[in-house]
Amino acid sequence: MLSKSQARLFFLGGTVLFSVVFLGLTLDTIRQTPARSGEANLDASALRGRMIWDEKNCMGCHTILGEGAYYAPELTQVLKRRDENWVRGFLRNPQAFYPGRRKMVHYNFTEEQITDVISFLRWIGQVDTNGFPFAPPLRAAAERAVNSAKGSAQ
Ligand code: HEC
Repeated sequence: MLSKSQARLFFLGGTVLFSVVFLGLTLDTIRQTPARSGEANLDASALRGRMIWDEKNCMGCHTILGEGAYYAPELTQVLKRRDENWVRGFLRNPQAFYPGRRKMVHYNFTEEQITDVISFLRWIGQVDTNGFPFAPPLRAAAERAVNSAKGSAQ
């Protein structure tokens, strides 16, 4: 059992020690951020795309780096799953794509605005996120189940 003064020392020592650890980790994060985010690749077009992203509140439906709303797909790696031309065509008129399904807003973007949004998505896609978003772990099992269900339906 600790005496009162030992308990105080233990508390103060622990607080100081972990404050130092916390500060050290914070400084390390600040030091690593420019390289990990690829800050140097953030050109004027990507910055304009970022403004469009905010002005149009894309995060009201989408997530990016896991932040935002869960109504529409995560977009951090959208250019890995979709061709740039596909995204360009989609942003020209999203409502022409999945007829009869939930819809994305048709923003009437100019070609330059679409280029800027794509530059921003390209920049976000190269940020080192420690592998986020991860591939769904059950995808292979789900595909097998769907294929065997198709087989038995036939
Ligand atoms: C009102 C909700 C909403 C807003 C706001 C919105 N989106 Fe979407 N977006 C959607 C939905 C829903 C889909 C998926 C379409 C579907 O599956 O039917 C989508 C799909 C996409 C896709 C294709 C993703 C993929 O993997 O197929 C991109 C790219 C995209 N949106 C970009 C944007 C950008 C950029 C903005 C802002 C300028 C934005 N969205 C704003 C609802 C929204």
